[in-house]
Amino acid sequence: MRVLLAGSTGLVGAQVLRRLLADPRCSAVIAPTRRALTQTAPKLLNPVMDFAALPAGTADWQVDAAICALGSTMKQAGSPEAFRQVDQGYPLAIARAVKAQGCDVFALNSAMGANVRSWFFYNQVKGELERDLRALGFASLAFVRPGLIGGERAEPRPGEQLASRVLGVLAPVLPRAWRINPAARIADALVEAALNPKPGVLVIGSAQLA
Ligand SMILES: NC(=O)c1ccc[n+]([C@@H]2O[C@H](COP(=O)([O-])OP(=O)(O)OC[C@H]3O[C@@H](n4cnc5c(N)ncnc54)[C@H](OP(=O)(O)O)[C@@H]3O)[C@@H](O)[C@H]2O)c1
Repeated sequence: MRVLLAGSTGLVGAQVLRRLLADPRCSAVIAPTRRALTQTAPKLLNPVMDFAALPAGTADWQVDAAICALGSTMKQAGSPEAFRQVDQGYPLAIARAVKAQGCDVFALNSAMGANVRSWFFYNQVKGELERDLRALGFASLAFVRPGLIGGERAEPRPGEQLASRVLGVLAPVLPRAWRINPAARIADALVEAALNPKPGVLVIGSAQLA
């Protein structure tokens, strides 16, 4: 299968990329990024692009499945509008581009609590993205909804690091859904949804990723 992967430089995305490159079911990976990847591989294509200009540059995105682990934080994005553009606008534009070229399988790294009616802006945006993706009519659509993602990050995120320590200590007494979700588990779920697609909409919650 040919797979498009958005967000391949991220904590989850990098683990997805490693798995796709190693998986014999996957014949090619198109991994668009805004900065060139440092790695090369025979079945890896890495177009460098400006995601704000989508769908420009997507003409050769003929794939069997797409995985999106692209996203920002409010702090990185700088404003609610900029966050919405990256976390809703870019994934949706990517989904439209692959769907227009015949792709019928899409797996999204969403978030626990994604809900259009959430009181939290972050969860509202993720819920709106899920709603908009459903409307595109993929034959197989997977929403992988982690809680706090566990793993080593290059840049410090003090809030997440503190939450991670607290959740780590409390893990034995916490419900599964509140435990840390290792990036590796999330990557496994995304890759399986893409390479072994099931018809309909599949939601994988944080308890399944703990
Ligand atoms: N952090 C958590 O605990 C948590 C919990 C639940 C859900 N999530 C969601 O899970 C997803 C993956 O999380 P993660 O921690 O793996 O993310 P991450 O490490 O921050 O990686 C994000 C990816 O998105 C790309 N990206 C961000 N802004 C971009 C922009 N303006 N243009 C192009 N690419 C851009 C990054 O590329 P660059 O390398 O170029 O920046 C990177 O590849 C995100 O959607 C996030 O919202 C996170």
